[in-house]
Amino acid sequence: MIPFLLIFLFSFSRVASADRHEDFLQCLESQNFNSISKVIYTPINSSYSSVLQFSIRNSRFNTSATPKPLVIVTALNVAHIQATIRCSQKHGLEIRVRSGGHDYEGLSYVAVIVPFVVIDLINMRTVTVDVANKTAWIQTGATLGEVYYGIAEKSRTLAFPAGVCPTVGAGGHISGGGTSMIMRKYGIAVDHIIDAQLIDVKGRILDRASMGEDLFWAIRGGGGNTFGVVVAWKLELVPVPAIVTVFNVTRILTEQDATELVHRWQYAIEKFDDDLFSRIFIYRANSNQEGKIMIQAAFTSLFLGGVDRLLSLMQESFPELGLVKEDCIEMSWIESTVYSAQFPRNSSLDVLLSRRYSSSFFIGKSDFVTEPIPEIAFEGIWERLSQVGVHLAELQFTAYGGKMDEIAESSTPFPHRAGTLFQIQYAIIWFEESIEADAKYTSWIRELYSYMTPYVSKKPRQAYVNYRDLDLGVNNLGYTSYKQASIWGTKYFKNNFDRLVHVKTAVDPANFFRNEQSIPPLPSW
Ligand SMILES: Cc1cc2nc3c(=O)[nH]c(=O)nc-3n(C[C@H](O)[C@H](O)[C@H](O)COP(=O)(O)OP(=O)(O)OC[C@H]3O[C@@H](n4cnc5c(N)ncnc54)[C@H](O)[C@@H]3O)c2cc1C
Ligand SMILES: *[C@@H]1O[C@H](CO)[C@@H](O)[C@H](O)[C@H]1NC(C)=O
Ligand SMILES: *[C@@H]1O[C@H](CO)[C@@H](O)[C@H](O)[C@H]1NC(C)=O
Ligand SMILES: *[C@@H]1O[C@H](CO)[C@@H](O)[C@H](O)[C@H]1NC(C)=O
Ligand SMILES: *[C@@H]1O[C@H](CO)[C@@H](O)[C@H](O)[C@H]1NC(C)=O
Ligand SMILES: *[C@@H]1O[C@H](CO)[C@@H](O)[C@H](O)[C@H]1NC(C)=O
Repeated sequence: MIPFLLIFLFSFSRVASADRHEDFLQCLESQNFNSISKVIYTPINSSYSSVLQFSIRNSRFNTSATPKPLVIVTALNVAHIQATIRCSQKHGLEIRVRSGGHDYEGLSYVAVIVPFVVIDLINMRTVTVDVANKTAWIQTGATLGEVYYGIAEKSRTLAFPAGVCPTVGAGGHISGGGTSMIMRKYGIAVDHIIDAQLIDVKGRILDRASMGEDLFWAIRGGGGNTFGVVVAWKLELVPVPAIVTVFNVTRILTEQDATELVHRWQYAIEKFDDDLFSRIFIYRANSNQEGKIMIQAAFTSLFLGGVDRLLSLMQESFPELGLVKEDCIEMSWIESTVYSAQFPRNSSLDVLLSRRYSSSFFIGKSDFVTEPIPEIAFEGIWERLSQVGVHLAELQFTAYGGKMDEIAESSTPFPHRAGTLFQIQYAIIWFEESIEADAKYTSWIRELYSYMTPYVSKKPRQAYVNYRDLDLGVNNLGYTSYKQASIWGTKYFKNNFDRLVHVKTAVDPANFFRNEQSIPPLPSW
């Protein structure tokens, strides 16, 4: 349905766009003395494709049918961003802003309304750490790996509570909340943002004081490409001990054992110390000799302390796992970021700076669980995992609780706080480009999601905006419907959705910054 619409719109707008394209380029060059032409890529530039593809992280949006931007501006400074905003407005072009490019639905570099322009922030990625004040200013084109590396250069006992994958961009990630392996101790990334630099729809550069607390609240989790272009965040760093402990214990289980252990985990996490983070990756293992389905569950943890205390806590709260000292590795927090990103042991910290990412086709969905899932329900999950023949189909269960329970739902747009037992991410990954494969895996994950309905949060069934999922609903093209947006909006933001709409109405009433799932303004009539 959507791909068809894409192609349709694309071909009709092509002719008219040629002129607009020229006018737009002239506008950009006239706006600016900052040699902007060195950072403007159109399809006639030989490096256009490589610049576009460099930060595409989902091969589903890397095909010949994917709509491509008319222009990519790899801005070097604020003036380049301001000029692009102004000229796009003048010539009626949509804008997409890209930081790390990890958007699950490719919204940072694909637009259904064409022609469009991509502002790519890859060149704006300075990380400046102030150890004495325990703060950092980071430009939003920085990846999380670059942020962690920059902090570690100055201190091994300061950290920032943001995501696990080092190539995720600070721009999109923090705009959507930012969960991490220290969230049970410190909450999420947006709970530690203390200032920001934003370019608004009028091209003004705003900081926390000049944007006001409503807008500052909204940009901390209300989703990217909605309120303006965030150029930089000011982080409040958090203390971590010099030694932390990690483990990744894999259990290959018959269906029966898997059910028991995973079922028990749901009760154990309620008792976990805030220093202990826990996640389970669940996927299908090879069948055993009798041809029985085997489920593999990798119990992965980061503990903010040494191994001895960890072992005694685990003995108290989750003895069924049978964790032993040999499973555990002590290291610094920065080394744990390398470990969790699954680089080989003892890799140099330099791997955090790499933007290389192996390409695959990917679909993800999310859920929040508020009551333990009954044992019987797991059987249906194992069955579905075992039926799909694919490179990887998995569920990730991430324990909430701890500090997350103490932060009010309305304190930032991210509402999944007290009452959340754990989060689920469903993911399916494959390598072959084919319409059949895409259709097959799309329907597989939708069916699993539907199967899970009775076992997850209700009214609304919550979802995490950073695991963007257009199946939850999309805005109308061309005009805005509050009612339509409230369907996906309340899933991502619960009651915060209304406040986000009010902020949006105040700062961008004409809905210049938008995409299929951006907060709409209220109509002015
Ligand atoms: C392998 C992998 C691991 C992940 N791990 C985690 C995790 O541990 N925790 C977690 O919370 N999430 C995680 N995510 C999800 C990730 O946080 C989101 O996909 C996030 O939106 C990506 O940000 P980005 O800058 O890389 O993406 P982009 O695609 O560049 O941007 C995402 C959205 O934000 C907008 N945007 C980007 N930059 C700006 C800006 N400067 N100003 C305004 N809008 C902007 C874009 O237009 C787009 O709408 C993971 C994703 C992947 C693929
Ligand atoms: C792209 O081509 C145009 C026209 O030749 C040129 O002005 C511009 O500098 C090129 N862009 C880059 C990044 O080289
Ligand atoms: C996109 O396609 C190009 C080749 O056309 C390839 O080199 C690149 O790895 C692909 N990237 C992704 C994420 O699929
Ligand atoms: C801490 O921040 C304040 C305010 O920004 C600044 O004046 C001061 O110099 C900083 N302290 C140090 C030690 O850098
Ligand atoms: C945990 O172990 C599993 C099974 O060996 C492996 O696939 C996974 O990559 C490991 N995870 C981490 C974080 O090391
Ligand atoms: C990693 O380094 C530590 C300490 O330098 C060493 O004891 C250990 O054997 C190394 N591990 C691997 C897998 O090389």
